[in-house]
Amino acid sequence: MRRIVAALALLCVCEAVRFGQLCSGNPNNERRISDSWGYGHFGAKRGPREHKGLDIACEDGSVVYAPFDVTLEGQLTVYTDPAKAAINSGINLSGGGLRFKLFYVRPDRTSGTVTKGQRIGVMLPMQSVYPGITSHVHVQMSDKSDPTPYF
Ligand SMILES: *[C@@H]1O[C@H](CO)[C@@H](O)[C@H](O)[C@H]1NC(C)=O
Ligand SMILES: [Zn+2]
Repeated sequence: MRRIVAALALLCVCEAVRFGQLCSGNPNNERRISDSWGYGHFGAKRGPREHKGLDIACEDGSVVYAPFDVTLEGQLTVYTDPAKAAINSGINLSGGGLRFKLFYVRPDRTSGTVTKGQRIGVMLPMQSVYPGITSHVHVQMSDKSDPTPYF
């Protein structure tokens, strides 16, 4: 019995989905570590709140790819602040047993299915809102859990 449980656990690890390349120019999904605006890891302090996602470096205007086979679940509005209108868009996605969001991306389409590596949109001009930041796609699980294990 113990052995069966261990084998199943191993299977689950092997089958867990992994994020493939998200952004052109960043084949290894290098993360935003730190810059004058803060840190990019999950749980980083944002004033009194916590950063609920993981930031993957992505230069403004880069092409954004499907990290695995996904279904497009609609466009998202990231902010209510009109000063951030230039980057106020994202995509809601599901696939590989996960539900997640990509912020700061202008989607090409907002419904249908896309295979891994296919283009899904363009990185918005983050430098125009946060000068000097490491421009990035913010990856956030719909249940606010930590996306880091999937990278
Ligand atoms: C995102 O898509 C999921 C389905 O995976 C849906 O349940 C959820 O309501 C959507 N969220 C938003 C903000 O559109
Ligand atoms: Zn973020």
